Amino acid sequence: MMIQTVFWKNNKVVMIDQKALPLNRRQLVCSDYRQVITAIKDLTVRGAPAIGVAAAMGAALGALSIPSEPVAQFRKKFHAVCNEIEKSRPTARNLFWAIERMKEHLENTILSGKKNLAGELIREAKRICAEDIEINRRIGQHGSALISDGDQILTHCNAGALATAGYGTALGVIRAAREQGKKIHVYVDETRPVLQGARLTAWEMKEEKIPATLICDNMAGFLMQQNKISKIIVGADRIVANGDTANKIGTYSLAVLAKSHGIPFYIAAPISTFDFSLKTGATIPIEERNGAEVTHFKGVQSAPQGVKVYNPAFDITPGKLISAIITERGIITRPYSSAIARLRKGIT
Ligand code: MRU
Repeated sequence: MMIQTVFWKNNKVVMIDQKALPLNRRQLVCSDYRQVITAIKDLTVRGAPAIGVAAAMGAALGALSIPSEPVAQFRKKFHAVCNEIEKSRPTARNLFWAIERMKEHLENTILSGKKNLAGELIREAKRICAEDIEINRRIGQHGSALISDGDQILTHCNAGALATAGYGTALGVIRAAREQGKKIHVYVDETRPVLQGARLTAWEMKEEKIPATLICDNMAGFLMQQNKISKIIVGADRIVANGDTANKIGTYSLAVLAKSHGIPFYIAAPISTFDFSLKTGATIPIEERNGAEVTHFKGVQSAPQGVKVYNPAFDITPGKLISAIITERGIITRPYSSAIARLRKGIT
């Protein structure tokens, strides 16, 4: 079954409500771009590529609400919508990439003399969505070459169909390997504090009948010591020019453990996740989320009232700990500075 995470229908943005999974399957239907912003903020839709698609569709919804008026006025109002969407979450590069692409499409549409600006922006948002699925399939094809029969693969957070328009990046590699008949077993980190692994990745693995075992985050090192993990694959929120990679909090610890145990550590991500403008990971904006995510789960308190909390949603894994990065154009390895420069120029 194909999971459609976010799509456009009858001039509305429809998305799977990921907050409700795995217990309830329901959709959120957004008719206003501000609903899309709220959905990005509260994790109804999450995962870098899915956030990008939702942002593009949110911008298209915003465009629909702008009455037809002179081009300069339309542009000003559309940019105001885009600025609001860009404030929803800071770390995933795909959000900013999608908004830049929508703005560029507006300029091209204006230059071409076409009159239905909102209609053209809707078409572009739908294209971004369709391309994302195609890109993930290509990531899967390339990445599956790294997977062997019998592999026991650890993944963190959810980099699956739910984190993209469909198919997934890290889980796309796992899906592709399965489609090729490789026997694999997936270990799923539960991924504190929001449990994207337990709630979403475990759900996707069940849906696809891919053998999987759920573990708490703090068990990963022991499993590596027991030789239960042969490979680690995760997604990314932002990859910078030297290969440093922001991904869900806990990813860095896994990369250090992988190095210590001699286990290959792979990142799977589309080129829209790359931020070629940043030289190192130190300047990636890291989102800090509400402390209630750490002190409570589904409204139930599990820490003393008033305790101080630090809740960064992402961490940065240095490029030197990453064995390879799988993209839709192929697999790149160290030294990342030159490999990523080639990727930017479209040489890889
Ligand atoms: O806070 P989230 O759930 O949006 O974080 C998601 C992740 O960190 C994913 O690993 C990343 O976006 C890659 S998704 C293909």
